[in-house]
Amino acid sequence: MSQQEHDLIVIGAGPGGYVAAIRAAQLGMNVACIEKESALGGTCLRVGCIPSKALLDSSERFASARQELKAHGIKTARVQLDLKALLKRKDQVVGTLTQGVGGLFKKNRITRYTGHGRLAGGGKVVVEDGKKKRELRAKHILIATGSKPSELKGVELRKNLIGSSTEALGYSSVPRHLVVIGAGYIGLELGSVWSRLGSKVTVLEYLDRILPGMDDELAADASKLFAAQGLEFNLETRVTAAKVKGRKCVVECDGRKPIPCDRVLVAAGRTPNTDGLGLKEAGIELDDRGRIPVDESFATRAKGVFAVGDVIEGPMLAHKAAEEGVACVEGIAGRKPRINYDAIPGVVYTHPEIAAVGRTEEQLKEAGVEYRKGKFPFKANGRALAMGQSDGWVKILADASTDRVLGVHILGMHAGDLINEAAMAIAFGASSEDIALTCHAHPTLPEAFREAALAVDKRALHI
Ligand code: NAI
Repeated sequence: MSQQEHDLIVIGAGPGGYVAAIRAAQLGMNVACIEKESALGGTCLRVGCIPSKALLDSSERFASARQELKAHGIKTARVQLDLKALLKRKDQVVGTLTQGVGGLFKKNRITRYTGHGRLAGGGKVVVEDGKKKRELRAKHILIATGSKPSELKGVELRKNLIGSSTEALGYSSVPRHLVVIGAGYIGLELGSVWSRLGSKVTVLEYLDRILPGMDDELAADASKLFAAQGLEFNLETRVTAAKVKGRKCVVECDGRKPIPCDRVLVAAGRTPNTDGLGLKEAGIELDDRGRIPVDESFATRAKGVFAVGDVIEGPMLAHKAAEEGVACVEGIAGRKPRINYDAIPGVVYTHPEIAAVGRTEEQLKEAGVEYRKGKFPFKANGRALAMGQSDGWVKILADASTDRVLGVHILGMHAGDLINEAAMAIAFGASSEDIALTCHAHPTLPEAFREAALAVDKRALHI
C-alpha cells in the first residue's frame, strides 16, 4: 500500500469539504480531498441544491408561460413541455459546476483521491476504490461527509417508483399522481416542480403544519399559496408504509385510506453520513441523532480529527457547512474565526420563495424575549405590483428594549435574495432604526424590507 503525507486530509468534497480544502490551500497547507463519487461538489452540486434549482427555474418558466404571460399582454402558441431537454439543461448546469470545482482544486493544488475514506488511527486515512487501497497520512483530518435521505420504516425504496430527491430530480416522464412524504424543504421544492410540470401532487405530513421549525405565520400563509397552486396537503398524516403493486404505488397512512399513486418521493429528513468512516475505532461516539459531537473549533474527541456540515449539529444547509469548513481550517491555521449561527439564512425555493434568518416569533416567546414586530406586504410595493408578483410580506422582529433585529421572515418573490440584506443586518448587530434610516432604491423589492423596519415603529409609509 502506497503512503502519502499531507497537512490536511478532507473526507468529502461537498460544500463543507471542498470549500475547506480551498481555504486550507490558500492558507498554505498541502491538502488532499477524498471523494467517492466521480464528480466533485457533493449532494448540493450533484443531486441537491443545484439540480433542484435548475428544475425549479425551468418549471417556473413553463408555468409562467402558460399562466402569466397573457396578463403581461404576451400571446403564445400552445406552450409545450420538452422534459428531455429540460433535464438535459439541468445536467449541463450540474456538469459546469462540478467541473468548476475540479478546476478550483487544480488551481489550488489540492490532491484529489477517488474512493471511500476511512480513519485508520494515528493520523492515517485509508482510501478504498474497489480493490485499490491507499494509505494517506496527515496531522489534521476533516470529516465533511454530509448526509443522505432518511429511510422510513415500512417504505420500500424502489428507485424511480418510490425514491428520494435523487430520483425525483430525473423522472423520465411527468408522474400523473406524485405522493410526497414530508412537507419540509425538499417536499415543497420538488413537489412544486412536478406540480408545475403537470402532476397531481399530494403532500403527506406528519405534523399539523408545513415547514417545521420555520415561523408559524410564514408557514401558514405559504401553505395557503401552495394549496392555491394545486398542491394538496394532508397534514397530521403519518405514513406507515409505501409499496409497489403492479405498476402503481400505494401509500399507507395512520387512520386514512391507502393512497394509490404513480410515484412516491420520500422527503422525510436526512441522516448524517457516517457509515464506514472508522469512527468507533477512532473513539468517536455519535450523539442520539447520529451526529458527530464537536467542540467550538470543530474538533472531535479523536486527536487531529475535525468534522463540519451535515454530520454535526445544526441545520443541514450547504452554506452553513461551507462557513464551518472555512472556520475549521482557519482555526487549524491558528486564526480565531467565529460563526454567528443567528445570522445563517434558510431559503425554500418555492414560488414565491420563503426565507428566514434569526429567531422566529415562537422561539422569542419561548425564550421570554420581548419583541416588537414590523410587517409589510408586497401588495403595497410598487416593484412587486409591476412584476405581477405581489403575494407575501416581510416581517422584522426587533428586541423591544434595544431595537436590535432578532429575526427576519420573508414570503415573496426573490425572498432568497432579499434575506441576505437581513442576514447582514443581524451580523452587524443592526437595529430596525438602522434599516429604516438606510435609503433603498426605488422601485425595488428590498423597499419592503425597509418599510417593515419602519413598521416596527408603526411608521410604515405605504400602508
Ligand atoms: P425536513 O426535515 O425539512 O422535512 C421533513 C418532513 O417530513 C418533516 O416535516 C417531518 O415532519 C415529515 N415526516 C417525517 N416522517 C414522516 C412520516 N412518516 N409521515 C409523514 N411525514 C413525515 O427534511 P427534507 O425536506 O427531507 O430536507 C432535508 C434537509 O435538507 C433539511 O434539513 C434541509 O435543511 C436540507 N435542504 C435544504 C434546502 C434548501 O436550503 N433550499 C433544499 C433541500 C434540502
